[in-house]
Amino acid sequence: MLVSGKELFQAAKQGGYAVGAFNVNNMEIVQAILEAAEEEKSPVFLQASQGAIKYAGIEYIVALARTAAEKAKVPVALNLDHGTSFTQVVQCIRHGFTAVMIDGSKYPFEENIAITQKVIEIAHPCGVSVEAELGKIGGTEDDITVSDAEAAFTDPQEAAEFVERTKVDALAIAIGTAHGVYKGEPKLDFARLEKIRNAVDIPLVLHGASGVPEDAIRKAVPLGICKINIDTELRQAFTKGVQQVVLNNPKEYDPRKLLGPAREEMKQVVKAKMRLFGCAGRA
Ligand code: 13P
Repeated sequence: MLVSGKELFQAAKQGGYAVGAFNVNNMEIVQAILEAAEEEKSPVFLQASQGAIKYAGIEYIVALARTAAEKAKVPVALNLDHGTSFTQVVQCIRHGFTAVMIDGSKYPFEENIAITQKVIEIAHPCGVSVEAELGKIGGTEDDITVSDAEAAFTDPQEAAEFVERTKVDALAIAIGTAHGVYKGEPKLDFARLEKIRNAVDIPLVLHGASGVPEDAIRKAVPLGICKINIDTELRQAFTKGVQQVVLNNPKEYDPRKLLGPAREEMKQVVKAKMRLFGCAGRA
């Protein structure tokens, strides 16, 4: 069933676990994630990035996610990942997204607050949850790149003021993760996470979680992380599935024989993440 992101955020915060948020671009990816969620009895966020909307088109993304969610027994929310403008948020809500992220982290503090408030004013009456970002998460996701020099950790006091003034449902924070493939092992600033958790009483979101060691995830979840975004590891699993078929059988020309195994590879990664995040068995 398709539900509001609010429902998933609230249950995760009460239950002390994090819900996996997985990026989708096509039918096989949606199916891989939903099969994993059903088998693990896990709530799940499906999310569409700027690149996904450009690649598949908003109508296809919504139709795929809605079809999958309606068939599923587990609760599913459809989230806009790193929404760039008020206009885009409105389009997504009109098309049926049940959660949105407005990423105002590239703006000065006051402007970030202003755009988040504006989005909340329209999203909340529609029953749509809003995630904002404070601090700047480094790395590259599709067309959005934040260099190491631009990346900035979240300030706990600013977080408290931001949440108080916006009444946002969830906050994405920068504590040492980055989008994309890590060069070295990421080091998370747990002391900062704890301070943020003590300063704000809302679900926190960890972006750039592909490649973050399992121990770090296990430590972060009890410190208030309620949603964990994974994209890169899913892409890698999917591509590995395709490559294996091509290597073993270079004459294969049926797309289903390439994409079916890719879907299976990805599903296994999603299932493992759901168990790690603690959302398995919570639906
Ligand atoms: P990764 O691609 O590093 O897993 O990050 C995904 C993400 O944070 C999407 O917003």
